[in-house]
Amino acid sequence: MKYSIMLRLWHWLNALSIFILVGTALLRKTFFDTDTLIESIAKSTQEYGANIGYEMAEVIAKAIHRPLWEWHIAFGYLLVFLLIFRIFIFVKEGVSYVDTVTIYNKLSTVIYTMFYSLTFFMVLSGLVLAQSDQLEASSFILHDIKNLHDTAAWFFIFFVPLHILSVVANSALKKDKSLSQMGIEHR
Ligand code: HEM
Ligand code: HEM
Repeated sequence: MKYSIMLRLWHWLNALSIFILVGTALLRKTFFDTDTLIESIAKSTQEYGANIGYEMAEVIAKAIHRPLWEWHIAFGYLLVFLLIFRIFIFVKEGVSYVDTVTIYNKLSTVIYTMFYSLTFFMVLSGLVLAQSDQLEASSFILHDIKNLHDTAAWFFIFFVPLHILSVVANSALKKDKSLSQMGIEHR
């Protein structure tokens, strides 16, 4: 079997965690965008004759965000453990994804290396953001870390669909068993 039980277990738990982290991030960037929420809260309360003002609308918007961030941070902590587990698998089994035989494998090797490096950054920056009260870091540093965290998120937003497309296309074109070997049985 090309991929060990440990690597396959890591792969699907990692996929679940990244799906939720990217999902909550995309919701935050679209339907739950703070300015959009503030505007619609101010407008709809005004229609009821209540003039609540910007600050109160912002408080309500942040209250609406809270469950989203609770999910984000919970799966963020799962990603912390999964990164430690992945490093353990690297130590036990070596860096199995490095392969330079074909252009496809060379490209996958570069992208997987970026994936692991940026996951390391998202875990570090995410932990600082999640523990910001305890760390008492200056708001300037926190603001910069949040911006970098937000910018690096785009790699994962593009990685997920491109990865799924490429592994399915690669497996179909080469008629190889990589999909089933990563744990998806297909007849
Ligand atoms: C958020 C979702 C996902 C993430 C973050 C993800 C991440 C990864 C990573 C990092 C690797 C390289 C593992 C290594 O060898 O070090 C990998 C390999 C692989 N993944 Fe995913 N994956 C996801 C979803 C999927 C899905 C849905 C499929 C199947 C349709 C899939 C199929 C594969 C296959 C077949 C490999 C081995 C391919 C190869 O050796 O290049 N992945 N995945
Ligand atoms: C691939 C993984 C991740 C992605 C794509 C992602 C994406 C994002 C995005 C887009 C934001 C919004 C930034 C903004 O408001 O400008 C954010 C905020 C945040 N993320 Fe992540 N993140 C990831 C991993 C993590 C991890 C591992 C943790 C914690 C251990 C974490 C904790 C946080 C926290 C605490 C915030 C700030 C929430 C707030 O505004 O109150 N993230 N993340």
